Order: sequence, then structure tokens, then C-alpha cells
Amino acid sequence: MKDIYILGIESSCDETSCSIVKNGCEEIATVVLSQIDIHTDFGGVVPEIASRHHVKNITMVIEQCLRQANMKIEDMEAIGITYGPGLIGSLLVGLEAAKTLSYLYHKPLIPVHHIAGHIYANQLVEPLKFPLLALVVSGGHTDLIRMDKHYSFEKLGGTLDDAVGECYDKVARVIGLGYPGGPKIDQLAKVGKPNYHLPMPLNDDSYNFSFSGLKSAVINLAHHEEQIGHKIIPEDLAASFQQVVVDSVVKKVRKALKDYQMDQLIVAGGVAANRGLRDGLQKMCEEEHVHLSIPPIQFCTDNAAMIAAAAYFAYREGRIADLALNSKSSDSLH
Ligand code: KG4
Ligand code: ZN
Repeated sequence: MKDIYILGIESSCDETSCSIVKNGCEEIATVVLSQIDIHTDFGGVVPEIASRHHVKNITMVIEQCLRQANMKIEDMEAIGITYGPGLIGSLLVGLEAAKTLSYLYHKPLIPVHHIAGHIYANQLVEPLKFPLLALVVSGGHTDLIRMDKHYSFEKLGGTLDDAVGECYDKVARVIGLGYPGGPKIDQLAKVGKPNYHLPMPLNDDSYNFSFSGLKSAVINLAHHEEQIGHKIIPEDLAASFQQVVVDSVVKKVRKALKDYQMDQLIVAGGVAANRGLRDGLQKMCEEEHVHLSIPPIQFCTDNAAMIAAAAYFAYREGRIADLALNSKSSDSLH
């Protein structure tokens, strides 16, 4: 059978990325240009600045990716593009580049939902086996999704307020760690002790999550300690916060796996890089005899390889867009 190469483009937030993936599972080349250093000074991603940097970098990133792969656009079967959700100005840059390539080279344009991309990052590691439960934990999402075949998504639950990564970033700011906070809290938590008491959020029987109350509890605790003249111990606060997050997520995932009798769990999104979460899920999966798949770190955070992998399966389902395709800052996964 003929090999199918898909060129993927991702620009939904602060990474400009292009990748070529063979048959939806084999990464040929990936270039990711991160703007993290630029946004760190502002304590978070500044949308206007992000879009401008995507404009500056997009052609260079695509050219570099093709060069790395030693391939041409002509060798591609289709162009996969993140159409949303994300920052609209950032999304539009990638989308316009993808549309231009699609038009000039007569290649089908495959629209990919960013979260489908995160889920399909796992396909680059091992084939997805159904039925499975996907836990998507990123800066913008905390979702539990059930899949019983390729490109079929049933949302079981999600966050009612902040996404888990967003909560990490906000708590990191309170502890004075800067942006992006997730990796920094993760590092600190490793050396701290979970000595601070924080409430377990949304401790109910649903598949939903809530993190804004936990964020407020950390802020209140930090202020209270300051008021009574105590110096906060950042590593202990990080460890206490991380433990509550991990316990909360693991509890809901365990319930969904049991209720739906699923024995495959895949984890996706930037927060899947979290050491504490990986260890907590690993332990739970061993207890429940569930097969766990978590992509390597470079496929957990935003990248175009996951978009090209998802695009392959979307393409197989006949999901092809025309040039009227627009970016969407929010859209449900379907
Ligand atoms: O998936 P992603 O790269 O972008 C979005 O689609 O949101 O996720 C970025 C988020 C940020 O909030 C970042 O702080 C968080 O993932 N993150 C982590 C870790 N690495 C990245 N959170 C906790 N622990 C980590 N090790
Ligand atoms: Zn993402």
C-alpha cells in the first residue's frame, strides 16, 4: 500500500510548529518554535505578540521541516491544520499558511481540533486501542473523553472552571515562580513535603473537575501565612498543591474507567508532562489493570506532529474542509 504523508501545522497558542507524519503514526520531521521566553516577561501569553511572532516564523518553520525531512509539498497527501480552539489571531496565521499550501499545491485541507491532536499524540507512540478513555490535561482543557473507534469522541466530563494547567500557572504566580508555572511547580513539588492542608475540589461522583476553588485556597493560605508573619515554604506548598491536583484527577479517572469498564487510558496535553500526575496515574492503572499510554514530553506540549497524526485519521473519515474554513477560538470536540 502507498505510504501517506501528511504535513501538519499548529499555531493555536505560543508555539509555531510544522511536522510531517507518515501513515498517521511515524514522525518524519518536526519543528517547534516556542515563544515561551518572549511571554515569560509578561507572566503569560500576550495574544497580539503571539500572532506577530507566528507571522514572522511560520514560513521558516515550514521550510525547515521540509528540509529536515528532505521532502517537498508535492510528496504530501494532505495538509492538516489546527483550526481551533485557541487564540484566534494565532490560529489564523497557521490556517492561512495551510490554506495557501492547499490551494497552490492542490492538496486536501484537513481541519483538526486541537484536543483531537493532543489525543492522537499517543498514536505516534503506539496504536490506539478501543474502547479507551482519554484524559486531556492542558493549559486550556481538562476533559475526560471516551472513544470507541477512531475519530469518535464522547465527552464524559470536564472542568467547570479553570483548566488544570491554567491553575498551575496561576498558583505558580502566587508562589512567585513565573510563567509557565506547571513545570516549575512540578520541579519544586519533588523536593517538598505536602504539609499544607488544601481542600479536595469537587469531591463528588461526577466526571467533572474544578480547580478555581483550589487556586483560591492556595492564594488565601499564602496571604494568611504572610499576615501572621510566617514565611511560606514554596516547595511544601507546591507539593501540597500537586498532591491535591493529582488525587482529584486520579479519583475521577479511576471512576470513569470502572463505570465504563475500559482497560485503556491515554493521557494528553501539556500537563501530561507532570511527574506527579504520571506517577499517580501509573499507580492507579497498575491497581486497576488498565493499560496506560502517555506520550513522551515533546509530544505532550503543543506540536504539529500530533496534528498531522490526527489529520491522517480525520482524512480517512473523509473530513476535508474547503478554503472557507475559519478559525474558532472555542469549539466542542466532535
Ligand atoms: O498543551 P499545552 O502545551 O498548551 C495548551 O494547549 O494549553 O499545555 C500548556 C500547559 C501550561 O499550563 C503549562 O504550565 C502546563 O501545560 N505544563 C505543566 C507541566 N508542563 C507543562 N503542568 C504541570 N506540570 C508540568 N510538568
Ligand atoms: Zn495544547
